[in-house]
Amino acid sequence: MLINVTSTPSPDYFFDAYDRDDIAYGTDPSGSLAAYLDQTAGHARGAGRAIDLGAGAGRDTLALAAAGYAVESVDLSERGLARIAERAAERGLTDRIRTRMADVCHVDFPPSHYDAVIATTVLDHISAAAAEQVWQRMCDALSATGFLYVQVHTTEDPGSDQPPGNASSEPVSETAGAVINYFRPNQLAAMAVRESSNLRILRYEERLEWDYTHGPEHQHGKAVLLAVRAGFHPHWYGQPAAFPRRSVS
Ligand SMILES: C[S@@+](CC[C@H](N)C(=O)[O-])C[C@H]1O[C@@H](n2cnc3c(N)ncnc32)[C@H](O)[C@@H]1O
Repeated sequence: MLINVTSTPSPDYFFDAYDRDDIAYGTDPSGSLAAYLDQTAGHARGAGRAIDLGAGAGRDTLALAAAGYAVESVDLSERGLARIAERAAERGLTDRIRTRMADVCHVDFPPSHYDAVIATTVLDHISAAAAEQVWQRMCDALSATGFLYVQVHTTEDPGSDQPPGNASSEPVSETAGAVINYFRPNQLAAMAVRESSNLRILRYEERLEWDYTHGPEHQHGKAVLLAVRAGFHPHWYGQPAAFPRRSVS
């Protein structure tokens, strides 16, 4: 496993969260990603390439590697990347994971290169202008049959400095200080339907959720997007798997 230092690291805000025995964000991949990987499991498309941006301690990276992807895990947290390496070794997944200590704003995304582009709560950790640039490069990097999965914190989050979250009395995440760019209602959806994004939305949701995976229990406002390339209509997604045909006697 290789660790490339491609930018000057800033202090590791997430060090404590990733240093604990009970690693922040847990071991299970984020819910919608897990559901997608389950649904695609019976439809092997060869070993794909994935990039996990803001990979943290690797819950999504590990699930992608276990599903057969060769994963590049990018994060600024040296401790998070070290925990990914540990967890990969425990699961025999070392050969499928390459960690890169880098700022997502400075990472190269070769066009049409990745079969999975993942960004679980990182576009909200960079400025709105930087998020726009990274977003476009993420979209351009997606292969013709790949999928893109993005989660961001929204202004519904009790940690948000904007309404309605700033009026919430629900508990705030211990790591809310790292979120600097809360997404407005429909903002992520609007980015996804832009012509330049060249995507087709499979699933989009804005929701409040409780988080028990780190620190004291707290609430989040999230937007969650699952998309593929415009014009790609995989027969295995959605209706047949989730709503199977009645058996005919
Ligand atoms: C809320 S955590 C999410 C971690 C992981 N995606 C998960 O869901 O378990 C956000 C992560 O983004 C990373 N991060 C924040 N800004 C970043 C940047 N500019 N470049 C790379 N990683 C960044 C942090 O170090 C942290 O690990």
